[in-house]
Amino acid sequence: MRERLEALQQAALADLQNVETQQQLNDLRIQYLGKKGELTEVLRGMAQLSAEERPLVGQVTNETRKAIEDVIEQKQALFARLETERRLQSETIDVTLPGRAVRAGALHPLNKIIEEVEDIFIGMGYTVEEGPEVEQDHYNFEMLNLPKDHPARDMQDTFYVTEEILLRTHTSPVQVRTMLAKKGEVPVKIICPGRVYRRDDDDATHSHMFTQIEGLVIDKKVRMSDLKGTLLQFVKQMFGEQTQIRLRPSFFPFTEPSAEVDVTCVMCKGHGCRVCKQTGWLEILGSGMVHPRVLEMAGYDPQEYSGFAFGMGVERIAMLKYGIDDIRHFYTGDLRFLRQFARL
Ligand code: DAH
Repeated sequence: MRERLEALQQAALADLQNVETQQQLNDLRIQYLGKKGELTEVLRGMAQLSAEERPLVGQVTNETRKAIEDVIEQKQALFARLETERRLQSETIDVTLPGRAVRAGALHPLNKIIEEVEDIFIGMGYTVEEGPEVEQDHYNFEMLNLPKDHPARDMQDTFYVTEEILLRTHTSPVQVRTMLAKKGEVPVKIICPGRVYRRDDDDATHSHMFTQIEGLVIDKKVRMSDLKGTLLQFVKQMFGEQTQIRLRPSFFPFTEPSAEVDVTCVMCKGHGCRVCKQTGWLEILGSGMVHPRVLEMAGYDPQEYSGFAFGMGVERIAMLKYGIDDIRHFYTGDLRFLRQFARL
C-alpha cells in the first residue's frame, strides 16, 4: 500500500507540474482528493490491514494528502497572482490622459440681464412677481387708465385673441394684479420681468415679441425723488459707477407726471458717438408717479398713498451692454451668437 501511495503522490505531483489553467487544477483536485478520487480508492484497502499496520499507513496517507494539497495550494496562489496581474494590466487607468471636456450650457443673454436686474432690485428689498402673457384687456389697459376709446392705445398695437383677451403689450398689468392681491397693504415693492407682444414688423430694432421688466413701489410719501434715486442706484450697478441719468418729461396714461429716463451713453461715456447720435445719452426706460386713478381703481386711496413705476426693455439693455446690433439675434437661436455669452 505504501508503494501505491507513493506512486499516487508522484503521479499527482507530475500532473500538477503541467497544470496550466484553473479548470485543470480543479479537475486534478477532484481526480486525486475527491470523494471518488484515487486517494479515497487506496484508503478503501485499509480495511484489510492489520491493527499494527493501520496507523503507519494512515500516517503515510496523511503525508501524501498533505503533499498533494500543498502543491495544489501553491498552484492556486500562483493562478490568483497571475489573474491579479492580468487584471491590473488590462484595467490600467492612464491618469495622465486629458479628460473629456464637458460642454457646459449657458444662460441666454436676456436671462442674464433679467437675473442681473433682479439681483440689483432684490438687494434694495424688492420681490419678483410674474403675470400671465395671455391677459385680459381689463388688466392690460382699463385698470391702467386706458379705456376702450383712449387714443394712447394706439401706442401699443395689440394682438387680440378675442375682444376681451389679448397678448399683453407690456408688463404693467402685473402692477395692477399685484396691487389688487395686496388689498391695500403697503409697502408694495416689486419688479416683474416677462415677455410682451406687439404687432410690429420685425427689423433690427423691432420685434413682435420682446421682454420687459416692470417696477412698482407704493407706500406713504413716495416721491419723484425716490424714483430718481432708485433708478440712479440701479444704473450705477448695471452700467458702472460713473453712469448718470436724466429725466425727460413724457406721457403715459398710467403715470402722472411721467418721465423718460436716459443714461450716459455706455459706448462713449457721454462724449457723443454714433450709438447715442452724438447726444451722449441713451433712452432706457419709461417711468413716472403712479396715476391717482390707477391707485384708486386698485384699492389704494391716492390721498394717503403714492407710488412710482417704471418699465424697461430688456433687449435694449442687453444690446447696449453687449454691443449687439440686431434684436433678432435674441430669437434665432444661433449657437455662434449664444456661445459668446457663455463666459461673460
Ligand atoms: N408700459 C410702458 C411701455 O410698455 C413702459 C412704462 C412706462 C411702464 C412708465 C411703467 C411706467 O411702469 O411707469 O411702454
